Amino acid sequence: MSTVASKSYEFSVQDASGTTCTANAWAKVPPALSKPEREALMQRCAELLKAKGAVLVAHYYVDGDLQDLALATGGCVSDSLEMARFGRDHEAQTLVVAGVRFMGETAKILSPEKTVLMPDLDATCSLDLGCPPDEFAAFCDAHPDRTVVVYANTSAAVKARADWMVTSSCALAIVNHLKDQGKKILWAPDKHLGNYIQQQTGADMLLWQGACIVHDEFKGVELDLLRKEHPNAKVLVHPESPTSVVQQADIVGSTSRLLKAVIEGDEGDTFIVATDKGIMHRMRQLAPGKTLIEAPTAGDSAACKSCAHCPWMAMNALQGVVDCLEHGHNAIHVDAETSRKAQGCITRMLDFVAQHPQALVVKDGGRLAGFTPGIGAA
Ligand code: 13P
Ligand code: SF4
Repeated sequence: MSTVASKSYEFSVQDASGTTCTANAWAKVPPALSKPEREALMQRCAELLKAKGAVLVAHYYVDGDLQDLALATGGCVSDSLEMARFGRDHEAQTLVVAGVRFMGETAKILSPEKTVLMPDLDATCSLDLGCPPDEFAAFCDAHPDRTVVVYANTSAAVKARADWMVTSSCALAIVNHLKDQGKKILWAPDKHLGNYIQQQTGADMLLWQGACIVHDEFKGVELDLLRKEHPNAKVLVHPESPTSVVQQADIVGSTSRLLKAVIEGDEGDTFIVATDKGIMHRMRQLAPGKTLIEAPTAGDSAACKSCAHCPWMAMNALQGVVDCLEHGHNAIHVDAETSRKAQGCITRMLDFVAQHPQALVVKDGGRLAGFTPGIGAA
């Protein structure tokens, strides 16, 4: 993929003793394309997906063209739970996962026989980076009495050490279930999601101190001011956000849950949305009569670090889809032993969700019927 630039981002990383420090990671910035260039690439992607018998599985945060392409070619656009289920259940032997690396790894672990390609293998996640496998293993070793619950946003090696994987869709229900069984929990890596679940369930949870660089930037004080300007607005918050933001929410939930809230709102409703602004594309398509306002990431005087858009999700580009399908580039590989171990915690979550469908506040959010533009739509 040709790139015009790259940017560096600071994230927090924890060692086994619980000490956190900061580190840096890079994200490439794909070049901006003209409308005819985008249309030609979308057409080429659609032809290649068909020719290779492949299906595109995309997250709500990736570029709108990729979301439209996925829907127009029989793929899906969804949250991370539904991406995992869709990839596992689809008959296609090649999955193109447009998201970040842990999403590709989860797809591969669930379907080791399938080829899993990604537009850019360097698309990572600050939560994954902030939880190195060796330090995490040492942390687990230091607390052998605790059930290890990890968020989906982790490497295969971290999942290999876990008893349960959860996503933001089912984390509350699964931790409640474990609490009812009298389990004490070791939680990693997102401190904000961990705090939220701890407060909601009252479970005994020891938290890794990771954070999402995008959601960590939403500001409670500025959100309070914005709410005063829009007193009738409903506030939708992804639980990777800080407590000061979550506390002001009308709805806290996964990306699918937040999308559902907008769809179900009344015509003319206003929503303040505290999650990656990539989701606005699908919100606008499925709820055109609603007013959507981005939650503030910083005050007037502060430098905006994240601008509410994940730099690694943004690395997914149409050209990357073409390249990976044309040349088989960017295949995900997870070594057999790690894959076998990691499969346990992912399958446990999927079985739980299948047995407790009420555990999900929203089901199949990514497959909601709605506007599906054709190839080349603006
Ligand atoms: P969801 O599972 O809610 O889509 O969240 C994934 C993610 O990475 C949010 O930052
Ligand atoms: Fe990770 Fe945050 Fe990007 Fe989601 S938005 S993939 S949690 S860095």
